[in-house]
Amino acid sequence: MRNVILMAAVSLLLGTTSAAQAAGDRVPAPKQSWSFQGLFGTFDRGAVKRGSQVFFEVCNACHSLDMVSYRNLVEIGLDEEAVKALASEYEVQDGPNDEGDMFMRPARLSDHVVAPYANEKAARFSNGGAFPPDLSVITKARVGGPDYIYGLLTGFTDAPEGFELAEGMSYNTYFPGHQIVMSPPLDDDMVEYDDGTPATLAQSSKDVVTFLAWTAEPELEERKSLGVKVLMYLILLTAMLYVLKRRIWNRICLDEYTHGPYVEEFQKNLDNHKLPG
Ligand code: HEC
Repeated sequence: MRNVILMAAVSLLLGTTSAAQAAGDRVPAPKQSWSFQGLFGTFDRGAVKRGSQVFFEVCNACHSLDMVSYRNLVEIGLDEEAVKALASEYEVQDGPNDEGDMFMRPARLSDHVVAPYANEKAARFSNGGAFPPDLSVITKARVGGPDYIYGLLTGFTDAPEGFELAEGMSYNTYFPGHQIVMSPPLDDDMVEYDDGTPATLAQSSKDVVTFLAWTAEPELEERKSLGVKVLMYLILLTAMLYVLKRRIWNRICLDEYTHGPYVEEFQKNLDNHKLPG
């Protein structure tokens, strides 16, 4: 029996290591500190706003954000007029009109963020056969989450000596297998922030990841504040139940000692051991 367990454990161990190798030697990205982490975490509004600028000025050239509408950007605190102006830079198909024809019109707040390519084939054709994935829930869709996306954006380096980098690929420390079709999308001063924050590579990467963490989980703040309320309620309820329990059991014990069989026995004992005189 012991041998069977041992063999099962060994094969499990071997199985997991070969699976890890198949995924390409993955280097875990270093942990960063994020405003939205922890029990009381919230999205840093400044970072979300700056990150949206990075997304629309840089990433949106290749990546879609299908699950987000322009009006959602107003909900997280971006200026409504600025978002309307941003949306109107893109065209969407609408219709049919009275003559039955489809037509193009500028995007409105109610439209979804306009994708850069009409379909996956067009996207692959323009990107050397690789598909730039939709970024709506990318921070949830990748092992390592926001830390990995941040690592990916800041992890482009020259390939180490002896590494055979295929034509048209870039070397990235944190991308599984290290070869990625996306060339480094960000660098220092790729964007110019309105609020005067220096747009270093680290800063703009952090901002765009905060923005993408919000698109992936817009209900995070609500969820956390509800969680805290539920915890407080449970703590209060536990305290009240404890007090109630003490009161009930106090009474039961008292009853037993003033009226029950114990009392009779006690009385009998007293009678039996009456002191002389
Ligand atoms: C010039 C086009 C282009 C731009 C601009 C671009 N990307 Fe990409 N991106 C790609 C392509 C192509 C892939 C697929 C790469 C592959 O599969 O090798 C990709 C893949 C990714 C992935 C997925 C990596 C994975 O683990 O699968 C993420 C995340 C990503 N890009 C984020 C971004 C962000 C954030 C920006 C903006 C700062 C950005 N990209 C800008 C083309 C682009």
